[in-house]
Amino acid sequence: MKILLTGGAGYIGSHTFVALRDAGFEPVVLDNFSNSHPAVLERLERITGLPVMLERGDVLDTPWVEAVLRRHQPVGVVHFAGDKAVGESVAQPLKYFHNNIGGAVSLMRAMTAVHADGSAPAAPTLVFSSSATVYGDPASVPITEDFPRSHTNPYGHSKLVIEDMLTAVRTADPVWRVGTLRYFNPVGAHPSGLIGEDPADIPNNLMPFVAQVAVGQRPYLNVYGNDYATLDGTGVRDYIHVVDLAAGHVAALQALLGRGESFTVNLGTGRGNSVLEVVKAFETASGRPVPYQFAPRRAGDVAQCYANATLAKKLLDWEAQHTLDQMCADSWRWQSANPNGYRG
Ligand code: NAD
Ligand code: UFG
Repeated sequence: MKILLTGGAGYIGSHTFVALRDAGFEPVVLDNFSNSHPAVLERLERITGLPVMLERGDVLDTPWVEAVLRRHQPVGVVHFAGDKAVGESVAQPLKYFHNNIGGAVSLMRAMTAVHADGSAPAAPTLVFSSSATVYGDPASVPITEDFPRSHTNPYGHSKLVIEDMLTAVRTADPVWRVGTLRYFNPVGAHPSGLIGEDPADIPNNLMPFVAQVAVGQRPYLNVYGNDYATLDGTGVRDYIHVVDLAAGHVAALQALLGRGESFTVNLGTGRGNSVLEVVKAFETASGRPVPYQFAPRRAGDVAQCYANATLAKKLLDWEAQHTLDQMCADSWRWQSANPNGYRG
């Protein structure tokens, strides 16, 4: 039961690799390492005790992806590969339209080709990494999957277009089985401390920034906005442990390979936490101070974003298990053991 993971060397892909192994699948990593480090593979081998199957290359290279599919005969594909920095997408929109939308087109064309000539082991089965960003600025919280979608930047636009492409492909050929997973805010790391989030530059996201402050790499955190209509004025998000998120992918694949019906679900905890609550939890988990100062609101940020997570429970029998304290403890274990990430 091979599963192809495009972008499998990245943050969420590497944790999903471990979860799939634990569930008895044989994951195969496809990655060009544009935003990851090959050292993650050796870490995955240490955690799983098994060699990692790697296909190094670009998902935009359709004939090569087709050859990879023919070689491995996966029963399913999880499509993580893509670029994800919101600010960069505003500065370089074509990079995002090319790599994210182009990558999804390329992958689906390759999957179509191997299915069309009868050489695929199963109906085309695809799990796609979407994002809560497709809800734009939600009218209320918690957010259910039927909320209107919109976009405020090219990254979010690319996710929206890919969701629509998946619907069109399924409509044209109902044999396709598609699981669209809208992630809320993935944080934390594998409890071994061997794999985790390894941002190449200054982190854009809260948790890796807080971790770098706690470990002493950065002097303080800028808290973007303290005048939102929230419990303490700072932004509220649905932080979800990456190990729970990884388990959500296993559940999604099992549902697609079993029942066979396509779905779109939120992967979140259903709870929101403010920036200051995260800072406090991280201080407790790390035993280190996290100095912060208030700064103006960040352009494009919304006050509150958290999921109604009941549909994933109903359709996939999946729900998040980890608390914010566990997310901070695991993030700290990874950060303190690997202050320079995979670069040693
Ligand atoms: P990541 O950058 O750590 O992982 C993406 C991986 O894809 C990297 O290993 C990168 O090298 C690879 N990649 C990129 N373009 C490629 C290409 N053309 N060919 C082959 N490999 C390529 O990101 P992540 O946090 O693991 O996110 C995975 C997916 O989940 C992305 O699609 C992202 O948009 C989505 N997502 C992430 C978050 C988040 O907060 N991390 C939230 C919502 C959705
Ligand atoms: N924040 C700070 N200081 C920082 C970084 C973040 O105060 O240095 C605040 C933000 O203002 C926000 C909260 O922390 O209130 C969370 O910010 P993140 O950047 O960690 O997460 P976002 O919710 O803004 O963005 C994430 C993903 C995006 C995705 C979006 C919606 O990073 O890719 O969720 O799904 F588009």
